[in-house]
Amino acid sequence: MEAKKLKTNQKTLNGKVVVPGDKSISHRAVMFGSIASGVTTIEHFLPGEDCLSTISCFKNLGVDIERDGTKVTVYGNGLSGLKEPNAVLDVGNSGTTIRLLMGILSGQPFHSVLIGDDSIAKRPMTRVTLPLAQMGARISGRNKAEFTPLSLSGGDLKAIEYKLPVASAQVKSAILLAGLQADGVTTVIEPEKTRDHTERMIQMFGGEVKTDGNRVSVCGGQQLAGTHVRVPGDISSAAFFLVAGAIVPNGSIELTNVGLNPTRTGIIDVLKQMGANMVIEEEQTEATEPIGTIKIQSSTLKGTVISGDLIPRLIDEIPVIALLATQAEGKTVIKDAAELKVKETNRIDTVVNELRKLGANIEATPDGMVIHGNNSTLKGGTVSSHGDHRIGMMLAVAALISDGDVYLENSDAVAVSYPNFFDDLHSLF
Ligand code: S3P
Repeated sequence: MEAKKLKTNQKTLNGKVVVPGDKSISHRAVMFGSIASGVTTIEHFLPGEDCLSTISCFKNLGVDIERDGTKVTVYGNGLSGLKEPNAVLDVGNSGTTIRLLMGILSGQPFHSVLIGDDSIAKRPMTRVTLPLAQMGARISGRNKAEFTPLSLSGGDLKAIEYKLPVASAQVKSAILLAGLQADGVTTVIEPEKTRDHTERMIQMFGGEVKTDGNRVSVCGGQQLAGTHVRVPGDISSAAFFLVAGAIVPNGSIELTNVGLNPTRTGIIDVLKQMGANMVIEEEQTEATEPIGTIKIQSSTLKGTVISGDLIPRLIDEIPVIALLATQAEGKTVIKDAAELKVKETNRIDTVVNELRKLGANIEATPDGMVIHGNNSTLKGGTVSSHGDHRIGMMLAVAALISDGDVYLENSDAVAVSYPNFFDDLHSLF
């Protein structure tokens, strides 16, 4: 496909964006709807490629699911209603789909085979296959079940207490989903708190979960009941406009319906720390998740340090935060973020290499990056998303402050989490 010519030299950015549905919550709403009894209706679902992969996998498991744009209806038959698939389950680019699905399949007395795209084939899976095997699932795959294709036969699980070696909501969720089907109480201990959408959703579907500091426990054998889920807007998608509004001259953007779950709002803390001109109005709770409106304007920014337990609260926003830091005064250090190496791409390398092509002063470190901000415009060049949606969107925002032509290769990747991204961005010109 031809490289996309991006908008550059943008002198204003004004208007309102209704942020599309949260990716993590959209996946979980379909999954919980599928394993609950009765009908689940989902509103403001994210029709991104990743979440469509989740729908297609559950259809292959015998669940009746209807979608009309952002409205989804799931006819759940309970945990014992899933059927052995007669085709391979293809998760596409979606790490959340494959890891959480393995948790569900671990409790199911049948055989499944899971595959994904070239990026999924490189992503580590023993972080989930090891604990699930300890619970009793039989999983095999390339390189001792580290990589896809993976094959899994489940059933007869026993509860475990498991200390996560890395802070990962996907691993925590996979173990909790298996725990709902195990004999006894399953406990996950997190090194740092990660997004808690799974825990909230268990409660929304009438189940029980106990959280005590970084320990999360579920009891096996619970029955879940279908419900209505209105998915809040994705703060990880809002992040591109938050940064665009702060770094483009004469920027003034209002983002409505943004999910403000405290396990996800690290980017707001960083924007505040860096001095951004921003107002947040928290509103009601949607899907037992807080939401609100954020207004942001062009800002004078200063460098900062991003590390420790802040990292899981903004892990997906680091590419666009790196861009933000190029426009700050002084140095920004991002550390304790080695997990970036095993995302859709190695996001330490892709962020550093692509931003350097546009003239940014940024270096990779073993667990993050250092950005020397100089508050200056970037230059033109040809960059690539490398098939990573968040790298593609970050580069489209970078182009806005570039004074030469910028071409983006593989721009289609944005459809993984934000199919209307370019239209929403253009509405602000
Ligand atoms: C997600 C958890 C995070 C995040 C991913 C979505 C989830 O991954 O990066 O985009 O929905 O649980 P890890 O659990 O691997 O950190």
